[in-house]
Amino acid sequence: MPRKIVVTGGTGYIGSHTAVELINRGFNVIIADDLSNSDTGVLEGIEKITGIKPGFKKIDLCSKKDTASFFSGLDRIDAVVHFAAFKSVAESVEKPLDYYRNNLNSLINVIDQMVLQGIPNLVFSSSCTVYGQPDILPVTEKSPVKKALSPYGNTKRVCEEIIEDVSVSGESLKSVVLRYFNPIGNHPGALIGELPRGKPNNLVPVITRTAIGKYDELKVFGNDYGTPDGTCIRDYINVTDLARAHVAAIDRLVSGKNENCVEVYNVGTGKGISVLELLKAFEKAAKVSINYSFADRRPGDIEKIWADPSLANKKLNWKATTNLEETLASAWEWTLNCREKGIL
Ligand code: UFG
Repeated sequence: MPRKIVVTGGTGYIGSHTAVELINRGFNVIIADDLSNSDTGVLEGIEKITGIKPGFKKIDLCSKKDTASFFSGLDRIDAVVHFAAFKSVAESVEKPLDYYRNNLNSLINVIDQMVLQGIPNLVFSSSCTVYGQPDILPVTEKSPVKKALSPYGNTKRVCEEIIEDVSVSGESLKSVVLRYFNPIGNHPGALIGELPRGKPNNLVPVITRTAIGKYDELKVFGNDYGTPDGTCIRDYINVTDLARAHVAAIDRLVSGKNENCVEVYNVGTGKGISVLELLKAFEKAAKVSINYSFADRRPGDIEKIWADPSLANKKLNWKATTNLEETLASAWEWTLNCREKGIL
């Protein structure tokens, strides 16, 4: 019998890529998503890639009643991968209560049902934002968790604490918390990809939209940082590599190899790239040239961060393998495909 995995937020960007990797590995995937930032077309994309249409339920996990009825209708679930959350840093500053209400309630409702139904394994989608601006780079999982710079970041920190507290309370919940660095790119073939509703804030979607002429230029936020070229540094990770880290986490949990009730892993490449370096790499990969100008620093941006992923390399037997050029080419292919279909 294939193991059954519930993927909340599974029609979203990282969720859909993870659903693909889980299905490719023989897991039976059931997606729960409220479609607030995605649509059911993603399910067809997943089916075209894998040959299998995942189970799907449109559900608002902030409703305790609906979450209970969803989980009680399922039979023998082995694990939950919990992605469902609001994720815009800027929006969270404007609407903090929406972010706390949504991101905390959905996690609480999901864990409540996992405990009630005896579902033992949770993989949680966290972020390197919990480190703030680290004093020492690269960051390891032992680096201090700092006060978040945004309500969004704070929801990730509090969610990690909720998971930790539930484990301490004696519930038989085993969790892997994955702290993502900056996911970019799309599944090769452009059948699923990153499609934020409204104006994107993240660097790669802004670059690709500038490349197709949707925006006149890219504004590079700040060129006076204490970095070699003055622009911010991040650890950009291919989304399929990131998705595979979830499969590795599930493998570790279901095979009982985890050493602690809650394990935390950095999921990054270990390499820091500046905004200008990323821009140049994109121009090379896509064979286009991008107009850009320098603008003021973006409030809340940290100067530089990149991961020490060695714990995940060792314990999850996972490593990021896709090179930056290939990743950026996949982002470009997806964007051209969306433009051809009139979506962009
Ligand atoms: N940037 C620009 N111009 C743009 C967009 C971004 O110069 O138009 C710069 C930013 O200032 C930053 C870098 O590109 O220096 C990366 O910005 P992103 O918005 O792509 O990514 P962030 O690092 O700000 O945020 C991402 C995720 C968050 C997560 C955070 C953790 O979007 O969900 O990483 O650090 F919390």
